[in-house]
Amino acid sequence: MVKENRLLLKNIHYDDQIDLLAYKSRGGFLGLQKALEKSPAEVIEIVKQSGLRGRGGAGFPTGMKWGFVPSNSGKPVYLVCNADESEPGTFKDRLLMERDPFLLIEGMMIACYAIGSKTGFIYIRGEYQYSHYILTKALQQAYSSKILGKDSELGIDIIIHRGAGAYICGEETALLNSLEGKKGQPRIKPPFPAVKGLYNCPTVINNVETLCAVTRIFEHGVEEYASLGTEKSRGTKLFSVSGIVNKPGVYEVELGVDMVEFLNDICGGLKADPKIVIPGGSSVPALKWSECDGVKLDYESLAAAGTMLGSGGFMVFGQDVSALELALNFSKFYAHESCGQCTPCREGAKWLVEILERVYSRKSYPGDLEKISSLCSQIAGHTICPFGDALVTPILSLMKKFPEDFNFDSFDFQLSSAT
Ligand SMILES: Cc1cc2nc3c(=O)[nH]c(=O)nc-3n(C[C@H](O)[C@H](O)[C@H](O)COP(=O)(O)O)c2cc1C
Ligand code: SF4
Repeated sequence: MVKENRLLLKNIHYDDQIDLLAYKSRGGFLGLQKALEKSPAEVIEIVKQSGLRGRGGAGFPTGMKWGFVPSNSGKPVYLVCNADESEPGTFKDRLLMERDPFLLIEGMMIACYAIGSKTGFIYIRGEYQYSHYILTKALQQAYSSKILGKDSELGIDIIIHRGAGAYICGEETALLNSLEGKKGQPRIKPPFPAVKGLYNCPTVINNVETLCAVTRIFEHGVEEYASLGTEKSRGTKLFSVSGIVNKPGVYEVELGVDMVEFLNDICGGLKADPKIVIPGGSSVPALKWSECDGVKLDYESLAAAGTMLGSGGFMVFGQDVSALELALNFSKFYAHESCGQCTPCREGAKWLVEILERVYSRKSYPGDLEKISSLCSQIAGHTICPFGDALVTPILSLMKKFPEDFNFDSFDFQLSSAT
């Protein structure tokens, strides 16, 4: 029987979430206190030992990322919390920010201490008005209580900045450009942000959930945290579950739980006959329901099953959903959100929508299926940022797994008036 493990979510049921004293009375700032007993280098070492991997999607080891920050650059070091959360199907950071804002502030303070930063930024999705309100109130309290600010013990400032509704600004270098007041377009890497990030200074960018996990690692001790999950996927993970489940919502479980048991024991089971499962947000490959048996929710098992943990945006679609319609829906989203810098992404995304649309409306031309595959292969790996791969991944996996939904042969081919 799979059970929830509310390590990060343990205080989400209180309505006094922007009351600093209430946070302290529940053990708040114990993690920071314990971290301050160590040197910054030891704090980084502990985060490495915890096995924590970034929860924003790529799963990069957090301690290793912090360790890349040069200590002798002579420039200021910045911490940026990525709270852009725009991946379709993903809504877990919002819960953390709205229900336990000091957990994030504490995690950011530990991270700032470790990397030698005096300034942290929270780049928050523009549409998250309520999360912005809660965080602003919490920051005001932290300043008035002298936990933050120039006169505080650590002298750390945390500044909150609202995005303007562009999905691409979740990509870390586009986010940095946007934060600098430039167009939100990704930068070519290398150089990586740890060396040349915000205002060309060393910068660490971490997801909201990652930074909240840091607080718990220090509060509970690294041994306890590292004992959760599997050998290579340590700790807990939040999943935002939607679709044909009886109890959609945000759930936190130890990494490595069985996917089907998770759906049955925690999400209340399924209310219809399942067909398609996307476990990590719209940018990861789709699975057929028949492939889900025995698959565990951790980085390695999901990779072995041909998909990814991604952001933890877990979507289950029923038999009434056509894979073609889903591919068209996703491709419209990506075509709208492309920043336009790279021709394969900018033009390719539009062409994919055009072709999928005519297939969907039963007006496809002979060879359209091949055209989609060829377009996808010209986009993937040929762009500045991973958006290009994210765009083609769901389409290719849906076409491969559900060829019957893309069955061109059964359509009445019609030549459009343009030809
Ligand atoms: C198109 C695109 C969108 C992204 N959106 C987000 C996002 O909304 N939130 C996030 O934390 N990471 C997002 N990422 C990943 C970030 O670039 C980066 O890897 C992450 O913030 C690093 O934090 P972590 O190491 O704690 O996961 C996105 C990446 C891409 C390519
Ligand atoms: S892949 Fe797309 S989103 Fe990324 S930089 Fe190129 S055009 Fe912009």
